[in-house]
Amino acid sequence: TADKYTYLRRNPNFKELTQDDIKFFASILPANGLIIDNEEDLIPYNVDWMKKYRGRSRLVAKPKTTHQVSQILKYCNENKLAVVPQGGNTGLVGGGVPVFDEIVLNTNNMNQIRSFDPVSGILVCDAGCILEVLDNYLAEQGYTMPLDLGAKGSCHIGGNVATNAGGLRLLRYGSLHGTVLGLEAVLPDGTILDNLSTLRKDNTGYDIKQLFIGSEGTLGVITGVSILTPPKPKAVNVAVLGVNTFQNVQNAFVMSKNKLSEILSAFEFWDSDALKLLKAHNIQGKNLPLKDNYPFYVLIEISGSNKYHDDDKLQNFLEELLTNEIVNDGVVAQDETQISALWSLREGIPEACSKTGAVYKYDISIPLSVFYQMAEDIRNRLRSAGVLGEDKPVSNVVAYGHVGDGNIHLNITAKSYDPEVTNLIEPYIYEWTEQHNGSISAEHGLGLMKANYLRYSKSSSMISIMKQIKQSIDPNGIMNPYKFLPTQ
Ligand code: FAD
Ligand code: MLT
Ligand code: ZN
Repeated sequence: TADKYTYLRRNPNFKELTQDDIKFFASILPANGLIIDNEEDLIPYNVDWMKKYRGRSRLVAKPKTTHQVSQILKYCNENKLAVVPQGGNTGLVGGGVPVFDEIVLNTNNMNQIRSFDPVSGILVCDAGCILEVLDNYLAEQGYTMPLDLGAKGSCHIGGNVATNAGGLRLLRYGSLHGTVLGLEAVLPDGTILDNLSTLRKDNTGYDIKQLFIGSEGTLGVITGVSILTPPKPKAVNVAVLGVNTFQNVQNAFVMSKNKLSEILSAFEFWDSDALKLLKAHNIQGKNLPLKDNYPFYVLIEISGSNKYHDDDKLQNFLEELLTNEIVNDGVVAQDETQISALWSLREGIPEACSKTGAVYKYDISIPLSVFYQMAEDIRNRLRSAGVLGEDKPVSNVVAYGHVGDGNIHLNITAKSYDPEVTNLIEPYIYEWTEQHNGSISAEHGLGLMKANYLRYSKSSSMISIMKQIKQSIDPNGIMNPYKFLPTQ
């Protein structure tokens, strides 16, 4: 685990794994559902996607059924064994890997589609289904998942719900708080909460599933998901634009809402530092077919039902942007291969940022008027401290993200995690966010990284009620300890 977290001490109330515990897990799980004490096999479950957080769990349980999840949690709760729920382990805040020796409960083996109704578009599936697998399944039936992210090939729908993942289509289909219709979840005491509703409207009592959406494994394990899926758009196109100022990125966004309105499905941006990294690390799609280098790039996606009509709308919109000098250059995909190539530029940025050695990731919601100012302020701060530049600890400050949702991703790439650099960025960046009425976590969650910074986005009364909820559902605190809620 990166230096910053050395203040943490293992909670002595949690029991250490014994031979009896191992015997119990072996008695309820098949051989392929258990990894015990095999250092090499445990690494992918103990280390996160960024290689920033590393736990030392001795046991990974991979149940296949909700009943097995219930047996595991009941046992762990009675024996005070701490548990980390884990999906595809693509999370970016250190939430899905253990901090110490917590047991990992991974949903890899829970991967069945339970039902799909082609009339309503409602899908019910196990929590361990991979997002892309679900999307491919739906495509055959003329539907699509309402969320899409660069990690789609690995992340699980349960992980998506647990983090309330946003992604590239939120602008069009809204958040999981709207599209998830029901959940099945297992509470720490083993109770199975059966709320796998397939109804769009249901005003009968507290909407408990909403608590689990974005709870990051701290209240229980999500085992099943019911989700409303939209029809797969028949006509999709993508344009990438070169823009000289961030003011003009905003102008283009406003105009896209007016001129493309119902067919606009994504409005993403990245800066020239992001492009530099894509090129440096030879990431797929790095060859941007624009004439010059621009400070900003915008990717606009349209999705509709009439290709001829939609392309015409896009063309007119782009001409207007060019005529008014809001954008300086643009390219429109001519076929599906080019659509994927343009998207892979945007989706390749997280990987490009991770190649330098270490990456400090910030995921901020902020009003668009100060969106890019944050990147500039951090650059100036690091430059004046003498740590940013060639042969300096920090090589790049990269900004990209979901302009359409007011969500900027600031990635600070460095050779290694360095406490001096960390202290220059944190808590400065969180104070900055608070002062500008933003949120310190737009979509990645709090995890281990931001648990102790929650106060920058939530009042003490809000934090207090969160603690009460946690206490009432997980009185022994076995679910994903040290994370999400402040420990200090
Ligand atoms: P994990 O990483 O395994 O777990 C994440 C959290 O959820 C942990 O706290 C874990 O304990 C909990 N959890 C997992 N499964 C369950 C369960 N069944 N029940 C209870 N708790 C559970 N995120 C976005 O929001 N938008 C993006 O555009 C986006 N793009 C990404 C691109 C890349 C290349 C990468 C690497 C990550 C990206 N992410 C993005 C972050 C990440 O993919 C999401 O947070 C995703 O939803 C995590 O899913 P997962 O299955 O990998 O969960
Ligand atoms: C993205 O939008 O690409 C994801 O949230 C991942 C990231 O921020 O790196
Ligand atoms: Zn994102």
